[in-house]
Amino acid sequence: MICLDWIGREDAIRLAESQPQRKLQKIPELSSGVCAFDNAVIQGDNLQVMTALAPTLRGRVNLAFLDPPYNAARERWVYPDRVRNWYGTVVGAEGEDPLRHDKWLSMMYPRLVLLRILLASSGTLLVTLDDHEAHHARALLDEIFGSENFLANVIWEKTRTPEDSASHFLEAHTHLLVYAKDSETWRPNPSAGKIPTLWSAAEAGDTHEAGVVEPREPGAAYPFVPKPVKLLRRILRAVTHRKGLVFDPFAGSGTMGRAVFEQNAADGGARTFVLVEAGEKASILLPRRLAETPGGSPSYNFYTLV
Ligand SMILES: C[S@@+](CC[C@H](N)C(=O)[O-])C[C@H]1O[C@@H](n2cnc3c(N)ncnc32)[C@H](O)[C@@H]1O
Repeated sequence: MICLDWIGREDAIRLAESQPQRKLQKIPELSSGVCAFDNAVIQGDNLQVMTALAPTLRGRVNLAFLDPPYNAARERWVYPDRVRNWYGTVVGAEGEDPLRHDKWLSMMYPRLVLLRILLASSGTLLVTLDDHEAHHARALLDEIFGSENFLANVIWEKTRTPEDSASHFLEAHTHLLVYAKDSETWRPNPSAGKIPTLWSAAEAGDTHEAGVVEPREPGAAYPFVPKPVKLLRRILRAVTHRKGLVFDPFAGSGTMGRAVFEQNAADGGARTFVLVEAGEKASILLPRRLAETPGGSPSYNFYTLV
């Protein structure tokens, strides 16, 4: 078996195995509506949250959707784990150093190991990335999920008007890496038919539709571009059945919560969501964006780690 090696790999393996068990505490004043379903918004580092959730969610997640830091420019992604002297340092183009990709792999490894534990045997993992890390992610996912469980690399046309950057190429695509927990038994949504591996902006939306979250908004430390609701609904229609739990550990502004709510309304589904986001984005930005959902905010319980 081919295994990617990097500086920090041993620390990452240790982190996956040795997270302290913490508990979740419900915060009623930040919860929304009467939560008839098990929807949840959880504030905290997603590694610690997944460890806290493992006893209850082990084998229950039908779709794990990951939109992690891309290790690209203008993200101000801060290294989250207490290993080496990396904790709290900015990674990516703003913090360029020779270990930039090692740090990204060290962050992703333990989180992917825990996600696999949370996934149902019929579950799907879908990771969005650009070309900064997609090739590393493929190798890591092949190791953790097994290369036999790779399903597809769907290319989404993220924009029809690519930015003219210093590059000689006009970048217009994003990767959606799709893995099954078990490809032998995995099945798409029966109404999805064969799923194409090329998704146009016309059918799946583009980044312009999603609208940039400005840095001056509370909870947004840096401008970031949410995913379009249309793209996430396209994913839900392709790989989820009408019931099931959708887990988004890098929830940002909570687009997945809104997509689940809208897709349920459209097809009579009863999917539920668990969104995890670090810091004040979870308590300020995410609830505000969910409240803007057409048809009213989805109800959810809000939790923090104690
Ligand atoms: C690319 S954004 C996700 C955008 C989201 N899909 C949306 O549509 O709004 C990645 C998010 O992951 C969050 N994040 C990064 N590392 C995290 C961690 N260790 N735990 C929890 N959230 C994290 C960042 O704060 C950021 O909001």
